[in-house]
Amino acid sequence: MQNFIQNLPKVELHLHIEGTLEPELMFQLAKRNQVNIPFQTPEEVRAAYQFTNLQSFLDIYYQGADVLIHEQDFFDLTWAYLLRCQADHVIHTEIFFDPQTHTARGIAFETVINGISAALDKARQELGISSQLIMCFLRHLSEDDAIETFKQALPYQDKIIGVGLDSSEQGHPPEKFARVFKMARDAGFIPVAHAGEEGPASNIDDALNLLGVQRVDHGVRCVEDPQLVQQLAETRMPLTVCPLSNIKLRVFDNMQQHNIVELLRQGLCVTINSDDPAYFGGYMTDNFMAVADAHKMTHAELAQFTLNAIEASFISSTEKARMASEVKAYLNHTDTE
Ligand code: ADE
Ligand code: ZN
Repeated sequence: MQNFIQNLPKVELHLHIEGTLEPELMFQLAKRNQVNIPFQTPEEVRAAYQFTNLQSFLDIYYQGADVLIHEQDFFDLTWAYLLRCQADHVIHTEIFFDPQTHTARGIAFETVINGISAALDKARQELGISSQLIMCFLRHLSEDDAIETFKQALPYQDKIIGVGLDSSEQGHPPEKFARVFKMARDAGFIPVAHAGEEGPASNIDDALNLLGVQRVDHGVRCVEDPQLVQQLAETRMPLTVCPLSNIKLRVFDNMQQHNIVELLRQGLCVTINSDDPAYFGGYMTDNFMAVADAHKMTHAELAQFTLNAIEASFISSTEKARMASEVKAYLNHTDTE
C-alpha cells in the first residue's frame, strides 16, 4: 500500500503556502532577515505545535510568517514545497496565499506574488508540475480590508485564478464577505471558501448560496445536515478535505472517526489535501497513508481521490483528461502486476 500511495499521481487543491514553512527554513530566514523568534532550535518549534483548536494553531501560524520579508523568501518557501510535490508525485497543485498576513506587516503585495510566482514558473519548466494561485481573505479582518486587498490584486489577475476565505471560522460567517465575493466573481475570479471545518453545516450552505463558491474547503461538518450531504453528492460539489489537519485541530478525535471514506462511498467529490503540512505533520503522501492506515480501502478508491481532485481542479478539460488517463493507466498497471 505504501508503494502504491507513494507513486500514485496526486493533485492538491487545499494548501496554504505559509503553512509549508518548515522550522528549519523558519530559522534560516529569521537569521537572514534578523527577525527574532521565540525559539532556540527547530525541535523546540516542533514541540510547540500542540493545538487544541483552529485558533490555537492560527496564533502560532501567523507569528511564523513574520520571517517572510523579501521576494527571495517567498520564492524559497514555495520552491521547498514544490520539491515536496515532486517527491510525492503531485502533478498539479492549487495554492492559497494570504496577502493580508504580509501587507499588514508592510510587505508589498508585489513582493509576495512575484516570489511565489517565480517558483511556480520554475516548477512548471523544470519539474513539470502545473499550478494555480488562489488569494484568500482573512475572515477575522473586516470586509473593507478584504475589498482593499481585492483591489491590490487586480493588476496581478493574470497570476491569480480565484479567491478564497480562511482563518477563524467561528464568529465570522460567509455573509460577512458577500460583497467582496460578488466583486471578485464579477471580475472573473473563481470563488472558494473554508466552511464547515469548525463552523456549522449552515456555513457550507451559506458559502454556496451567498458566496457562490465552486468548491468547499474542508466541509466535513456537512454530515450534520443529511439533506446537504445529498445535495453535495448530486451536484458533485467538491470538498477539499485535509485529514491530518482535522486530527491536529481536533475536528475529529482520531483518523478512524474521520468521515472522508464514508463521504467518498456516498458519491461526494471529496479530495485529500495537506492544508498546512509543516504544522500538521505531513504532505500529500502522509495524508493518503494516514487515511489508508485507518480505513480499509481498495487501490481504486484511493485513486478516486485523485480523479475527484482532477474533476474539481481549475484547469482546462484537455488537461483534466490527460491527467485522468495518467491516473487510470497507473491504476491498471499496478493492479495487473
Ligand atoms: N489558514 C491556514 N490553515 C487554515 C485552516 N485549516 N482553516 C482556516 N484557516 C486556515
Ligand atoms: Zn485551509
